[in-house]
Amino acid sequence: MNYLGFSKEKVENTVKQLNQLLANYQIYYQNLRNFHWNVKGEDFFELHVEFEGLYNEAKVTIDEIAERILTLRLKPVSLLSKYLELSQIEEANVGNSRDMVSTILSNHKILITNMRAILETASESNDEGTIDLIAGFLSTIEKKSWMLDAWLQK
Ligand SMILES: [Fe+2]
Repeated sequence: MNYLGFSKEKVENTVKQLNQLLANYQIYYQNLRNFHWNVKGEDFFELHVEFEGLYNEAKVTIDEIAERILTLRLKPVSLLSKYLELSQIEEANVGNSRDMVSTILSNHKILITNMRAILETASESNDEGTIDLIAGFLSTIEKKSWMLDAWLQK
């Protein structure tokens, strides 16, 4: 870990939050897949594609978070059972279109809060690599949230 020049304690704090984010993302990802598969009704074509886009983005993000933890020389949580234990995002049941988009937006709220906390912790140890990575995810998910919110407006 020395070649990165971080104190062990500070990196551990950041990684604890990164693992929290990883767990949240895994459940969020599965919620999207569930919605992608089981969406029904007149919004089928639109939401089927939209959920696919979101889970593909989540898949890349999950990999980047885990590999950032490894870059910091610590271990990403990797067991599904542990993700369920750690995640603040709950497994979601399929509902109508509006319910599902609302659920995804609530999931985003948890992810955004989680990311902001990481940015704060990472800045305490001048961990610019983590800040850069997470800030990119944050602005992407904020923008997506605006679009989903706009979709929900009547
Ligand atoms: Fe598919």
